[in-house]
Amino acid sequence: MRDRLEALRGDGLAAVAAAEDLDKLQEVESRLLGRSGALTAELKGLGKLPAEERPVVGKLANQIKQALQEALHVRRQELEAARLAADLAGVGVDPTLPGPPLPAGGVHPVLAIARELEDLFSSMGYVVWDGPEVETEANNFDALNIPADHPAREGHDTIWVQTEADEARHCLRTHTSPVQVRALRELGTPLRVIAPGRVFRQEAQDATHDHTFHQMEGLVVDRGVGVPHMLHAMQSLLEGIFGKKLETRLRPGFFPFVEPGFELDALCPFCDSGCRVCKGSCWVELMPGGLVHPNVLVAAGLDPEEYSGFAFGLGLSRMAMLRYGIDDIRWMMSGDLRFLEQFKA
Ligand code: PHE
Repeated sequence: MRDRLEALRGDGLAAVAAAEDLDKLQEVESRLLGRSGALTAELKGLGKLPAEERPVVGKLANQIKQALQEALHVRRQELEAARLAADLAGVGVDPTLPGPPLPAGGVHPVLAIARELEDLFSSMGYVVWDGPEVETEANNFDALNIPADHPAREGHDTIWVQTEADEARHCLRTHTSPVQVRALRELGTPLRVIAPGRVFRQEAQDATHDHTFHQMEGLVVDRGVGVPHMLHAMQSLLEGIFGKKLETRLRPGFFPFVEPGFELDALCPFCDSGCRVCKGSCWVELMPGGLVHPNVLVAAGLDPEEYSGFAFGLGLSRMAMLRYGIDDIRWMMSGDLRFLEQFKA
C-alpha cells in the first residue's frame, strides 16, 4: 500500500502540473481527492491494514493529501492569472485607463450672478442673509407697511398656503423684502445685508412673467443713511453685473415700504453693440429702491428719528436675461438642458 501511495503522489503531482486549464485541473482534483477518487479509495482501505501499520501509513496518506492539495492550489492560481491576462490581452482592456468622463454640471445663470454679487457685496461689508420661502403674512406684508386692503394680498398675485382658521396666515413670499424685516430683527443695527432668493407670484405666464423667479434684496440701516449711499450701492451693483460704469437716473416710484421711492434706470448697456434690449428708448428700467419707510423701522423696533436706511430690490432673473440675452423668463426654471448647457463655463 505504501508503494501505491508513493506512486499516487508522483502521478498526482505530475497530473496537476500538466493540467493546462482550470477545467482540466478540476478533473484532476476529483480524480485524486474526490469522493470516488484514488486517494479516497486508499484511505478507505486503511482499516484493513494490521493495527501496527495503520498509524504510519495513515500519516503518509495524509501528507500526500496535503501535498496534492497544496499543488492544486498553486496551479489554480497560476491558471487563473494566466486566464485573466489572456482575457485582457484578447479584448484590449487597459484597467489603468480612467473611466468615461461623468457629465459635469454647470452653474445656472441666476446663481452665477447671485454668487458674483454676494462676493461684491461681502467685500463692501454686507452680510448675505436668507429667509423662508413660506412666509407669514405679517412679514411679507404688514411689517412692510403694505395696507390690509392692498390688492397684492388678493389671490391673483399672492399664492396663499392653506392654514387653520386660528393659525397665522402664510403665503409663498412674493418678494425678498420680508428678509428686510427678519434681518433687522435678527441682526440689529447697524445693518448691511443682501438677500438673494426665490419668490413666487400667481401670474399668467408669458415671456416676461413666471410664477417663480429670483430677486435680491439689499438693505442698509444706520445713522445718517441717505439717497447718495443708496445710489452708490446700486451703481456698484450694476457695475458688478455689466462690467462697466453705467449712466443712471432716478425716477420716482411707489412702494409702501420706502419713502421716497425710486426706479433706477440706466443708459442701455448694450446700445453700442447693436441693441435688442431697449429698442431705441435707451433708458432701461433696472431696479427699484428707496429710503426705508419710518413705519418699517418702527415695526422693527427702531426710532426713525435716530435711524434711517435704504433698500433696493434687484430682479436677479431679469438681470440674467439682460446679461445673457435670454428672451423668455420661462427658460429660467424650465430645467431644460438645452438651455442650461449653454452656460457651462
Ligand atoms: N419688493 C419690491 C418688489 O418685489 C421691490 C423693492 C424692494 C422695491 C426694495 C423697493 C425697495 O417689487
